Amino acid sequence: MIHLQSKTASVIFDTKDQQLSIVYWGAGLGDLAVTEDLSLAATTSVANGNFDTPLVAGVLREHSRGFLGHPTISGHRNGRAWSTKFDLVDHTIAADTLIAELEDKHAQLKLQLTYHLNEYGILRIAAAITNDGSDEYSLNEFNYWLPLPDRATQVMDFTGRWAHERQPQRRDIPYGLSVREGREGRSGFDFTIVELAMGRNTNFQSGEVWGLSMAWSGNSLHLVEKSPNGDISIGAGELLLPGEVVLSAGERHEVPPAVANFSDLGIDGLSHNYYSWIRSRKIHPTNIRPRPVTLNMWEAVYFDHNEAAIREMVDVAAEIGIERVVLDDGWFHARRDDRKGLGDWVIDPAVWPNGLAPLIEYINGKGIEFGLWFEGEMVNPDSDLYRAHPEWILHEGDRIPPFWRHQQVLDLTHPGAFEHVLGQVDAVLSANNIAYIKWDHNRPLVDAGHLGQAAVHNQTLAIYRLFDELKARHPKLEIESCSSGGARIDLGMIEHADRFWTSDNNDALERQTIQRWTGIAIPPEMLGTHIGPTHGHQTGRTTELSFRALNAFFGHAGIEWNITEANAHERKNLAAWISLYKAKRGLLHSGKAIRVEHPDPNAFVYGVVAQDKSEAIFAYAQHTMNASAFPAAAIFPGLDPDSLYRVKAHTEIGKPHYFHVANTPWVEKAEGIVMSGKALATLGVKPPMVAPLNGILISLTRI
Ligand code: DGJ
Repeated sequence: MIHLQSKTASVIFDTKDQQLSIVYWGAGLGDLAVTEDLSLAATTSVANGNFDTPLVAGVLREHSRGFLGHPTISGHRNGRAWSTKFDLVDHTIAADTLIAELEDKHAQLKLQLTYHLNEYGILRIAAAITNDGSDEYSLNEFNYWLPLPDRATQVMDFTGRWAHERQPQRRDIPYGLSVREGREGRSGFDFTIVELAMGRNTNFQSGEVWGLSMAWSGNSLHLVEKSPNGDISIGAGELLLPGEVVLSAGERHEVPPAVANFSDLGIDGLSHNYYSWIRSRKIHPTNIRPRPVTLNMWEAVYFDHNEAAIREMVDVAAEIGIERVVLDDGWFHARRDDRKGLGDWVIDPAVWPNGLAPLIEYINGKGIEFGLWFEGEMVNPDSDLYRAHPEWILHEGDRIPPFWRHQQVLDLTHPGAFEHVLGQVDAVLSANNIAYIKWDHNRPLVDAGHLGQAAVHNQTLAIYRLFDELKARHPKLEIESCSSGGARIDLGMIEHADRFWTSDNNDALERQTIQRWTGIAIPPEMLGTHIGPTHGHQTGRTTELSFRALNAFFGHAGIEWNITEANAHERKNLAAWISLYKAKRGLLHSGKAIRVEHPDPNAFVYGVVAQDKSEAIFAYAQHTMNASAFPAAAIFPGLDPDSLYRVKAHTEIGKPHYFHVANTPWVEKAEGIVMSGKALATLGVKPPMVAPLNGILISLTRI
């Protein structure tokens, strides 16, 4: 038996009969729990109408050993070596890492499996497969699988589309195989980010929950299987296109890693593990500096780049406390609309006759840093690049893939194309003071071939390499991963980018759901959350500034609105919001996320509690009309039950639209009220009656 354990999780492996199997994955069991008898305890009877001896699926789930479910590996050598039987030949355990070496002499394959359980309960799994034969081996599929206990009866995953990302779906686990496929060539709008399994009663604050994700920004598979024997397992892998991975003699293929996570403290407990791990990395943005409040000008100017108007906006930005201004799409060669220019990353003298330097100096002069938009993986046919190299697009045969936003995908696996993008982007970054780039990716990969072979895997590695090289050349550069909003947000990209554009939908009501569920795995400091215009450009909905501000507070906050249109009162509120954000971002970006199980389905209550419980900040957001005349009390779990807290409503960022004759008195008290942590978690406070699409920000400070 091999036991990897953290404070909160255990993974127990068996190595009996030269087979590697996982006996257990779940809550930490402690040293005493692992006896040799565990494998006896986990062995079933011999059933009627079944194999003559109890079978162990093992991590390889092989047909050759009698396993009848979905296998881990599938591939062949031109029709041979189609079935594997790997033996465990060696293993080492060091620093909470198991490295297992397996071999199938008949299929002539070697496999290395690495399981690392970190102190936060996150299990990272990686595999490398080597072709030990003398002819080619085609790998069709390799999935990581973990066992689930019988009490994990439900699965929850996420679906989505443009402007409607991360929509949850929770259902009972049926018998058979349930599959979520990502075939967009990027992680995708419909990417589940994490596949969750849990008991029927698991909620945000309590119950067991198991999560598995591909840490990968290309195609993916997320699977759950319940066999007729009753075994339940959860799996994830890269979805490989036919012929995408063909190993020549001696070649080794690294399977993209997966990340597994377990908590017995509900879905919030799972997020706590993800956040603790992600924040522990040296490259994590808040370990470098606080997140600057951002103004992105896309929805303010679109393609209409007028320097005088932009300077006016910068003046207002400086007045209200903005720290970073971002010039979006439209600054480069011939890019007057979305039909031209992608591929030519040179500043367009037609709109910027003196280059961008004078604007950047103006912005920097006000103590604000500058960011710029790129979409380096794409090309418009109407571009100098395409005219010179029409062959540098991902395609199959002599077909051109269907257009999407008038663009094709540049084949970054082609060394010339890679160097072209790297060189042009590097030149712009070297000649100008650019702190941050927003890197977009506005179409899926379709028919994505390179010289006759499917190339999504290599294209994904190429973009990682490109980001890493840009960062190596410009060590202070921050990169935002945007993909028409949130179509490339995953646990692979966190190693290469610093921020995600959560969604193109800036409507605060729509964002409530998108942010809640993207935040399951990604901490708020990595999720761009902007105050959009009064009348949402995507939904046309009119929303109070106070509600837009409340929503955008819980993330890497910014504004995406022509703030020269904001009146004096709105500017005052924006300035107050920014100054409160600056005061609270340390808490927001280090604390524990809490999503309250609120009895009114028409409202969200959520917040962040400091790790030492000294303070917290919560939102009460009324989405549609209250279910009852008086809104249900908002409770605030997670505080120290035996401490007193000052509870204060922050109406300085804008008063909500009330829906009553007289306010609840605690909101009106400038100095707030005092309650114990226990009373806050049980009795809570009565929220003010606010109209739909309104809410209130509440701070809690230990006294
Ligand atoms: C899609 C992005 O998600 C938007 O924020 C914006 O950058 C546009 N592309 C620009 O074309």
